[in-house]
Amino acid sequence: MLNESKHNIFDTPKQLTDHVSDLIIELANKSIAENGIFTIALSGGKTPKQLYQRLASKSRLINWRKTLIFFSDERYLPHDHRLSNYNMIKENLLDLAPIPYENVFPIDTSEDQIELAAQNYEQKITQHVTSTINSLPAFDLILLGVGEDGHTASLFPSEKHKFNSNRLVIPTMQQQTRSHRISFTFRLINNAKNIFILVTGKSKSNIINLIQKNQNRPNPKFPIEYVNALHNITWFLDKEAYKQ
Ligand code: 6PG
Repeated sequence: MLNESKHNIFDTPKQLTDHVSDLIIELANKSIAENGIFTIALSGGKTPKQLYQRLASKSRLINWRKTLIFFSDERYLPHDHRLSNYNMIKENLLDLAPIPYENVFPIDTSEDQIELAAQNYEQKITQHVTSTINSLPAFDLILLGVGEDGHTASLFPSEKHKFNSNRLVIPTMQQQTRSHRISFTFRLINNAKNIFILVTGKSKSNIINLIQKNQNRPNPKFPIEYVNALHNITWFLDKEAYKQ
């Protein structure tokens, strides 16, 4: 997994963030030049915060009018909740860059029925992400992180039965906190043209080690190992996370 796909190691999270923000700008300009649009799905959590701030600081280099922003997962909470991914991305990017409101597609967490919210989001994606591969929506870029338990997006080890879902967006649950989530499925993630996986910090060195050890085993052990569209995955790690 890690060795087969491209991976870049950086001395510091700042260097990683500077490099990845430049790559995203490059990819956005290439996608817009080729297809007239750039579609990106952002991940939540703490790792990408600095990246979003850096993208906002370089916002004049991206044509936001031709950029569509989606969310690869969401905690099923009000958008102004401190734990909401939308709230974090709003604070660190959406409020700091000239992004047209109509180009941002938050997951609607006000819907009583989470199942309906997942279906509605899936419809939004198929309606607006018009570039397809294998007749499925193909994002130009999906950003992902990795939890210490090997989860990615909101696909957790405790819900392995959902990993082969044919759907594109599903409700999930984080066992420890019993918190409801909505998440892209691996079917949608693995259909992206580009996947960037960002991992920083000492707390992630153990899971990275385990993934490295596990990668030649027949069946994947951790959710992140189900991100297997190898030709278009690039890992970005800092030295703390990659410490072997
Ligand atoms: C979320 C994320 C999740 C995240 C990992 C890593 O909603 O939390 O989408 O998949 O990427 O949990 O989180 P950190 O970056 O905070 O370590």
